[in-house]
Amino acid sequence: MSFIYHADRQRGLRWKQYFADHAPHIPFHIWPETGDPEAVRFIGTWSPEAIEDLSRFPNLEAIFSIGAGIDQFDLTRIPPQIPLIRMQEPGIVSTMREYVLMAALGIHRNLVDYIDQQRREVYEIFDVKPVAETTIGVLGMGQLGTAVASILSSIGFDCRGWSRSGKPLQGVQVFKGEEELSVFLAGCDILVCLLPLTAETRGILNSQLFSKLPKGASLINVGRGDHLVEADLLNALESGQLSSAVLDVQSPEPLPKGHPFWQHPQILMTPHIASQTQPESAAAVLLENIDSLAQGKPVTGLVDRSRGY
Ligand code: NDP
Ligand code: OXD
Repeated sequence: MSFIYHADRQRGLRWKQYFADHAPHIPFHIWPETGDPEAVRFIGTWSPEAIEDLSRFPNLEAIFSIGAGIDQFDLTRIPPQIPLIRMQEPGIVSTMREYVLMAALGIHRNLVDYIDQQRREVYEIFDVKPVAETTIGVLGMGQLGTAVASILSSIGFDCRGWSRSGKPLQGVQVFKGEEELSVFLAGCDILVCLLPLTAETRGILNSQLFSKLPKGASLINVGRGDHLVEADLLNALESGQLSSAVLDVQSPEPLPKGHPFWQHPQILMTPHIASQTQPESAAAVLLENIDSLAQGKPVTGLVDRSRGY
């Protein structure tokens, strides 16, 4: 029984060490090394390349996404009997929590404006508002959205969340589905996108949605670049409907040189680092999932292919 890892090599070495220490009976290969293809039971990957020809691994039992998102995979290439399991682990959650807290506080305390002012050698002071007077709305209240909403609310932001099911979360006002989206948006001074990228959510950050936010709201996109309609963001910033955007994700990554986002004074970009799977905590969860599969128990992070997340 062996495992193939196909993602960042440096981090792969940490995964390999964790397996050696905690599951020495499972040989661990870092792509392109595969060992005996007949022995391969599990693949852990970020890259669709690893699943292009799964017929090479006739005894494959499961595919694990090294990330929380699975939009990079063509699900039609994975036979229906092979479960696809995405990453739900404490490291990815805590790093996302830190990033969105940083971005939200940055917006709340006018950091994007001050960075622009410094470039222009301008010294101008903005009023400081109490956190309780700023409402932050989180689109997508799953593993990451709930953690983000909880920390924002714990430091005093007025926090609300939106999801398909409207699952309740203590201290956070929750809205549900298409029918409650407009009411949800109407209160958001800062909007955080933590949705998975699916047929339903692609392009959701568009003019129509921006027009439902209070004038001068800000956007934090930590979902996927394709959630955003770029031209609509530029128009919203130009008209003042939005005042700033923090974009950790873009499409493509990186954006081409000369793209208007690079130099835009109201846009702060980071290179898809909001959150990172942490090898040790992720390997621990993955090994638990391998045990659960062997015992026929439910796994953590099983993807529902019909929903696309
Ligand atoms: P989850 O699957 O745990 O949560 C997804 C949430 O989105 C759920 O609350 C779900 O609702 C909601 N949702 C999905 N589709 C819809 C819809 N059509 N309408 C309303 N709500 C919807 O995902 P995670 O929290 O683990 O991850 C979210 C995304 O974050 C990932 O898919 C990835 O794109 C992104 N990500 C980005 C990273 C970065 O570094 N920038 C790192 C990790 C992830 P319900 O609860 O009802 O099912
Ligand atoms: C993920 C990501 O989906 O890093 O895990 O974007």
